[in-house]
Amino acid sequence: MKMPENDFRFVCAADEIPEGRAKAFSITDNNGNKVDVAVFNIGGIFYAISNICIHQGGPLSQGFLDGNIVTCPWHGWKYSVMDGKSPHEGGDSVNSYPVSVSEGRVYVSPVPAKVGKRISKPHKAYQDLDGAVKQHIANVTGSKTLPVETAVRVLGISTTNTDRKAPRKSTSEAALQFALDYAKDRLGAETVMIKLRDLNFKHCEGYYSKNARACIFPCSISEMDEKDQMIEIYDRLLIWADVVVVSTPIRWGSASSLYYQMVQRMNCVQNQIVTHDNYLVRDKVAAFIITGGQDNVQHVAGELLSFWSQLGCVFGKFPFVGWSRGWYAEDTENNHREEMNSSAFQKDIMRTVNGAVEMSRLVKKNRYDERVLNIH
Ligand code: FES
Repeated sequence: MKMPENDFRFVCAADEIPEGRAKAFSITDNNGNKVDVAVFNIGGIFYAISNICIHQGGPLSQGFLDGNIVTCPWHGWKYSVMDGKSPHEGGDSVNSYPVSVSEGRVYVSPVPAKVGKRISKPHKAYQDLDGAVKQHIANVTGSKTLPVETAVRVLGISTTNTDRKAPRKSTSEAALQFALDYAKDRLGAETVMIKLRDLNFKHCEGYYSKNARACIFPCSISEMDEKDQMIEIYDRLLIWADVVVVSTPIRWGSASSLYYQMVQRMNCVQNQIVTHDNYLVRDKVAAFIITGGQDNVQHVAGELLSFWSQLGCVFGKFPFVGWSRGWYAEDTENNHREEMNSSAFQKDIMRTVNGAVEMSRLVKKNRYDERVLNIH
């Protein structure tokens, strides 16, 4: 009876892996190290490559097979199951392993026939963001003091889709501009406004639903698409801003669709807490401006408060301000004029911005985040 060489490990009976399918196994090399392999049956011939995608560790045995090419189920990297190489010139590769079949039993060697390599690098803006966020977190972690700048940095994010071509101005954006002007002129803040409608960024592709670890930071969509401008939001929010003020109109009782497009792309920020105990949002205060011709301010505020609290932001006194003309206000063309004439709304905005800026100073001065996160 012919047996495979000593270097081979028995993994399964040949009929356990039907044609066109794969199975994952953990074998051990001669030094006791675990080797995760994916064994494929292509037309009755068995091949083994690493089960761990060289990109972010996706399970290749669960990938999609097309001929002898397997596509990683997490973000779509491709490999030949015959030698672990990328089908594209200059692409990344994974280890491939010798396979032996004897008397209907499949054996795999833990010693690679070909060693895989990570060759490709993310584009520069992605690498820069990744490095800058890591540096920022390293700077604030464990530090007992933080510079408390006199000029608090306030980031406004306008999520309306209403632009200048609309017959009237956006009420939520006008209110945000008022808030930023107040922060700058009266509180000495530095301010920046990002208008989501001016950014080119894709919706979330739901990698988290495949596996929590498939959702990486910075987002893999930003890695794969050089033009993706979520990078600007990650950068401003995670590094630059002390306070973020988000404004949204109410659309069918909820925040704007652009708002949700943005927050779903922030799943990768929140997910770092779950998967890596890594808190990327440090020392940030959030506040909200919600406007609508009809009601639902409290519902939208609840959603916004819930998400931004999960992200790791804290809130000042009266963290949201809402403005609505009520159910029967169908003359939406008058919303902007009515809003700008509302001294009560303006006073509420000033109070909310003041509360956020004051809270930012307290958070930094007392090292609030550091003390909360420093749990042993
Ligand atoms: S493509 Fe495999 S882990 Fe990203």
